[in-house]
Amino acid sequence: MKTIFSGIQPSGTITLGNYIGALKQFVELQNEYNCYFCIVDQHAITVPQDKLELRKNIRSLAALYIAVGIDPEKATLFIQSEVPAHAQAGWMMQCISYIGELERMTQFKDKSAGKDAVSAALLTYPPLMVADILLYNTDLVPVGEDQKQHIELTRDLAERFNKKYNDIFTIPDVRIPKVGARIMSLQEPTKKMSKSDPNTKASIRLLDDLKQIEKKIKSAVTDSEGIVKYDKENKPGVSNLLSIYSIFSGKEIREIEKMYEGKGYGDFKADLAQVVINEIQPIQEKYTELMQSSELDEILDRGAEKAQAVANKMLKKMENAMGLGRKRR
Ligand code: AQP
Repeated sequence: MKTIFSGIQPSGTITLGNYIGALKQFVELQNEYNCYFCIVDQHAITVPQDKLELRKNIRSLAALYIAVGIDPEKATLFIQSEVPAHAQAGWMMQCISYIGELERMTQFKDKSAGKDAVSAALLTYPPLMVADILLYNTDLVPVGEDQKQHIELTRDLAERFNKKYNDIFTIPDVRIPKVGARIMSLQEPTKKMSKSDPNTKASIRLLDDLKQIEKKIKSAVTDSEGIVKYDKENKPGVSNLLSIYSIFSGKEIREIEKMYEGKGYGDFKADLAQVVINEIQPIQEKYTELMQSSELDEILDRGAEKAQAVANKMLKKMENAMGLGRKRR
């Protein structure tokens, strides 16, 4: 079986963007691959986090992974900071990265734009992500489009290491969903939906109250044309809503356009709200059950143990290749 690794930051409650771009793919792939799914809490602290909120988000994200359909018997689910090999390997990856290539990362540019002071880790977190992936002999990384550049960096650094030290890393491929690779903000549809967006109306969170979801969809920014038609350039708001509708209903975009011919955005948005609620309601029910049980901690303990066993083996290979410490078998 080939191996998959992917992670999500506990930097807020996950959005429809994270769900469609990442989690939905994970659920589909878990039957065909040996999967490692990670809650990347060390990535989350590259920007300021409230410690109580972070702890809450970590547990909540773990429950959401399972509530959307990740089966902990099939996939290894764990928290990054509970597997110390990630930070250790991340340091080694930093040592073979160039500042120039890290400064070119669009996520760094976006997250540092307009800020007086940003943490050094905001610049150097991509090598940590590289380590996350390479520690597991990963063949495939399922992510949304915004992470593509980081996977390209992963490939570059793996090749650089293999050439310079020892040929130990598998070079992973990226997997981006055909539809929904970039779900856009409901308020600024030319900007991606993000869990850390302070504008609460801009994103739908998986744990939003169902009435709130309806309200957010009804107030989503569209245009004044009143025609339900997919045109990403000229109608980014409507196109984004059409993508979401299509993904959750299983209907082709063209079919949805036909359904709303001659009707305004009101009917379209009301039906979309119902389609989204139908998807999210069972997830929320399962989530509530999980948060009240002790099952979650047991799953995370087992996940950390399994991940440590695999990651530590690769870490030793990396240390031997670079000449760190004393020679070990
Ligand atoms: N809008 C999106 N559409 C599709 N996929 C998306 N992803 C993120 N936003 C969208 C995918 O979700 C996974 C987890 O992302 P992450 O938590 O590692 O960080 P991110 O990519 O920076 O996501 P956010 O929501 O924007 O988080 P913050 O606000 O903390 O930076 C990834 O696979 C990502 O591609």
